[in-house]
Amino acid sequence: MGDLLLVNVGELVTPRGASPRGGSAQGELLRLDNAFLAIRDGVVADLGPMKKVPRDFPGEVLDARGRVVTPGLVDPHTHLVFAGSRVEEYLRRARGERYTGGGILVTAEATRAASEGELVELALPRLERMLRCGVTTVEAKSGYGLAPEAELKILRAIRALNGKVPQRLVPTFLGAHAFPPDYGREEYLDLVAREMIPRVAREGLARFCDVFCDKGFYTVDEARAILEEGKRHGLVPKLHADELAAVGAAELAAEIGAISADHLLHVSHAGIRALAEAGTVAVLLPGTAFVIDEPYPPARKLVESEVPVALSTDFNPGSSPVLSLPFVMRLGILKLKLAPEEVLCAATLNAAAALGLAGEVGTLEPGKAGDFVVWDLRDFRELFYWFGDDVAWRVGIGGEVVWASP
Ligand code: NIG
Ligand code: FE
Repeated sequence: MGDLLLVNVGELVTPRGASPRGGSAQGELLRLDNAFLAIRDGVVADLGPMKKVPRDFPGEVLDARGRVVTPGLVDPHTHLVFAGSRVEEYLRRARGERYTGGGILVTAEATRAASEGELVELALPRLERMLRCGVTTVEAKSGYGLAPEAELKILRAIRALNGKVPQRLVPTFLGAHAFPPDYGREEYLDLVAREMIPRVAREGLARFCDVFCDKGFYTVDEARAILEEGKRHGLVPKLHADELAAVGAAELAAEIGAISADHLLHVSHAGIRALAEAGTVAVLLPGTAFVIDEPYPPARKLVESEVPVALSTDFNPGSSPVLSLPFVMRLGILKLKLAPEEVLCAATLNAAAALGLAGEVGTLEPGKAGDFVVWDLRDFRELFYWFGDDVAWRVGIGGEVVWASP
């Protein structure tokens, strides 16, 4: 945990608060020109204009030389741990085949065959590439094991990774991702609820329980039963909701008190109203719509309905082989029609809220973690403008610089 003083920040841009922001509040940021940021013991101690910079700071001083500083980015929905590739499926889809989610079983076969150590080795470079993009907190799901030992192996790999990388990793159990062919439907539902959830909870391997509630996957009733069981074991519900069709998954997310409803490409009007009333965070994944070539989710309608909107990569080998959250944020501008201020909040404070971490990360304010990015930019809006570039200059976690551009 470091002591660090950032000086000569050209533009310090951050959302404020410890709860998710919807409606017009999503676009309200604090912008300070020519600023400093002081981090003590890994936690933000103070920030303000350079004329008030602390004298005699006891730790390291980093001169940003006019660059932009934001909070560290938070990626709240990834399928980080898997083996194998789906390049054949990807190329078939590029030629016009429709995405159905059937390829999940292909990745499950490869992932079952890999050891925990191999899964860790495969995930490490992915996390490094995320760090280069300014991502300091990463949610990671199981879901490519689809059998008790294999699901636990993935969650143990996530736990092992947590000690090996500088980022904060947040684990989610997604045993209900698909139905594996080696079990009957009822038999697998039973295995998830009666065996996997209790073991995951007992070993403290996950904070959240997620279900792929969609056409051809888990029905609303099946998802409800699994998420209720997860709740009984202390796992907070999350949902893959209405990605392939409007099945009422957003309504279920609201009903069950899910912390987030993710995807929402086909969310209904009633679903949007339900999310707004429940205060559920909508995690949008435009990289997925881009890759599977489907219509984008109704982001403007969600914001205008006061639903707090977050953005995430959905990094996975099928529908979103995308590690760069900044790329997804650029799609947030171009395809979701969000404003730069709304996009920044979506990938920091609201993303943290989707992980129950809005009190700890996602803004630069006294008491929050000293997780920041110095971007090689003079105007934060250009982060959403230079496509295909990594523009992070320094990335800090808990006041330690953990990545520097060569
Ligand atoms: O979030 N939609 C379900 N699961 C993943 C994709 C999984 C896959 O195709 O491997 C998603 O898009
Ligand atoms: Fe996903």
